[in-house]
Amino acid sequence: MKRTVIIDALRSEIVDVPVHVCGWVRSRRGNKNVSFIALNDGSTIKNIQIVADLTKFSEDELKPVTTGACIGATGMLVKSQGAGQAVEIQLTELEVFGTADPEQYPLQKKGLSMEYLRTIAHLRPRTNTFGAVFRIRHNMAMAIHTYFHEHGYFYFHTPLITASDCEGAGQMFQVTTKNLYNLKKDENGQIDYSDDFFGKQAALTVSGQLEGELGAMALGKIYTFGPTFRAENSNTPRHLAEFWMIEPEVAFIDKDDLMDIEEDFIKFCVRWALDHCMDDLEFLNQYVDKGLIERLRSVIDTEFVRLPYTEGINILQEAVKNGKKFEFPCNWGDDLGSEHERYLVEQHFGKPVIMTDYPKDIKAFYMKINEDGKTVQGTDVLFPQIGEIIGGSVREADMQKLQSEIDRRHIPMKDMWWYLDTRRFGAAPHAGFGLGFERLMLFVTGMQNIRDVIPFPRTPKNAEF
Ligand code: 4AD
Ligand code: MG
Repeated sequence: MKRTVIIDALRSEIVDVPVHVCGWVRSRRGNKNVSFIALNDGSTIKNIQIVADLTKFSEDELKPVTTGACIGATGMLVKSQGAGQAVEIQLTELEVFGTADPEQYPLQKKGLSMEYLRTIAHLRPRTNTFGAVFRIRHNMAMAIHTYFHEHGYFYFHTPLITASDCEGAGQMFQVTTKNLYNLKKDENGQIDYSDDFFGKQAALTVSGQLEGELGAMALGKIYTFGPTFRAENSNTPRHLAEFWMIEPEVAFIDKDDLMDIEEDFIKFCVRWALDHCMDDLEFLNQYVDKGLIERLRSVIDTEFVRLPYTEGINILQEAVKNGKKFEFPCNWGDDLGSEHERYLVEQHFGKPVIMTDYPKDIKAFYMKINEDGKTVQGTDVLFPQIGEIIGGSVREADMQKLQSEIDRRHIPMKDMWWYLDTRRFGAAPHAGFGLGFERLMLFVTGMQNIRDVIPFPRTPKNAEF
């Protein structure tokens, strides 16, 4: 018989028909007359109840049906007598695909810690929490593609292996086929990469932006959505060494247009979660973060604050004067930490903030410099619970200004010739931003640690699975 997915069986308006479902046993309980099997196949957070009549099935036949075992069950789909579910299945045929020894299967108990579950990341998708998170993750990816497709953007594929350090932060993972056990250096102690695979030093990308800009200078509006890699030794609940980033890049827009897009896009994504993932959100709201759904609703209903960095610093310094203690200083010119960002968002304004016009020395080389010569047209979006969720900016389109910034920062020009060509030939005003997919996931799920919103997290000293 053809398999029915459990989400469809649970929604079925037709009952008293035979069905066949497959899945993993969440629990089995019962009495001397019947056994109740809660079965989940991942299609929904909800289990279907399978009722085995013990006059038809012996204890021996049911013995392998333990938590974690994988079974196929055929039977009548009927209206349920019990509370808690509309329908259930009266078992007529049982197939055991794979047993799970109760002495050994790690997901027996409820309430296992997130830290422990990370050590069994190969099994944790079978828990309610991670099932919910990864279904939402899929839905958020669909939201992102839908948003851009419907707004006339083209999905532009930028390389993962590159020779340019977009953010200039020196956090790249090197890619080489050189024999590290027998590395030759020249008389200056330098490694000759001309005989390496790519004929030059190559690395995993920290951002698709530079190549994304090339796309926007031809197609008008593009976005990227792919993995990015940063070898930053940040052991925080908000940093991964491998994370996914969404980077739209748009020609012929200014700073205000850019902020409008950032706000509209992120609200679209949050609304999408509320429209498409309610079962999973309700579960997370109940067990992970009681304020989750309310917080999601509040973000789509509110207008984001638009705040120049300098004003933000004034607010923070005022707070310090009034007794607020921060771990790190916040003087003009300092890069804000997430404690500062969260103070502004959660305590001062009580809503998301788009911070603009940062000091140029704490931002990347490509940002458009303001008339004051000191600040650049960055537009980061700061979110409750998260801090920075989007990093964006208007790009410097003027060849001379861009080149002098590259010189000032001692960025090797020969590596940037192709980027500069977009300023040399048909330069256009343009702007874009990068949304950290896992930061968005943190916000939408209420999970506390970024390691718990990606199936297999990559962090310092950890590349298991
Ligand atoms: O602010 P960032 O470094 O900006 C860029 O990479 C630009 N090239 C984007 C652009 O304008 N096209 O990174 C963008 C976002 C951050 O706001 C944050 O959400 C996320 O990427 N992010 C990380 N997420 C997880 N782990 C990390 N180590 C991250 N670093 C940045
Ligand atoms: Mg940033």
